[in-house]
Amino acid sequence: MEVIKKISKMKEISKNWRREGLKIAFVPTMGFLHEAHLSLVRKAKELGDKTVVSIFVNPLQFGPKEDYKEYPRDTKRDLELLKNEGVDAVFIPEPEEMYPPDFQTYVEVTRLTTGLCGAFRPGHFKGVTTVVLKLFNIINPDIAVFGEKDYQQLQVIRQMVKDLNMDTEIVAHPTVREEDGLAMSSRNIYLSSDERKSATSLYKALLLAKKLISEGEKDPQKIKKEMEKFIHSFPFTRVQYIEFIDPVNLEPVKEINKPVLCALAVFVGKARLIDNMLIN
Ligand code: PAJ
Repeated sequence: MEVIKKISKMKEISKNWRREGLKIAFVPTMGFLHEAHLSLVRKAKELGDKTVVSIFVNPLQFGPKEDYKEYPRDTKRDLELLKNEGVDAVFIPEPEEMYPPDFQTYVEVTRLTTGLCGAFRPGHFKGVTTVVLKLFNIINPDIAVFGEKDYQQLQVIRQMVKDLNMDTEIVAHPTVREEDGLAMSSRNIYLSSDERKSATSLYKALLLAKKLISEGEKDPQKIKKEMEKFIHSFPFTRVQYIEFIDPVNLEPVKEINKPVLCALAVFVGKARLIDNMLIN
């Protein structure tokens, strides 16, 4: 497995693979890898001839009061895990090379980023699309795999690729969960053992929404209230948002009469957790 730091080196390797007619599948990550990241990697391995994983905690997508500095990092362990998966190359650029002092170009998807997480994390998605576009330009992948756990991110990337006529095919991977339903996340490490118990409330609240809808409830407001009450019955929790949205354009739904995506963000202690579920 090649471990590559320099942008020029990564470009050269991927150019050579492409010249040989090999299909490159790419998984961008911020590291501190868990089983969900690894299942994206396995998917990429299935789809391409060469698998590239990037590890880069992207400063551009963190707000000034967010956890860029504390974001968990363990590159040594990450590299071991990726080696065991048979990854061909890991790209670990330095922030200084990705964003030199004269850096001044950004890419922004507008409408899709106004709601949900975008409403509470100004600039976040601009940081995500900018880094993903840079990584795509460096690696030039045929395929890139993204998780449905970050559903808005997935839709925003798809929109960018469509709007900018990019050639990379975006593949979605279903959310990977712990046994008790908690969506895997690098940020789960922030949870104390009591908070960890409360963190199950997100998935349970999504199941509650599914049940209410299956019983005929069509009013998102009523379901939201029930979910909020349910989540707040767990200690350390604070709901940031619960939304029922159209799964494609992410617009809020007023009445539930077709498949709907329920997405939520909840603080559990200091950890901000997100989850979502498509409800048919
Ligand atoms: P990160 O949070 O490390 O996630 C990397 C990829 O793993 C993303 O596509 C994310 O959706 C996916 N993922 C994380 N947890 C998952 C889970 N429980 N189930 C399924 N997929 C999961 O997302 C980012 O990094 C960054 O924003 C990035 C795209 C790398 C740009 O900096």
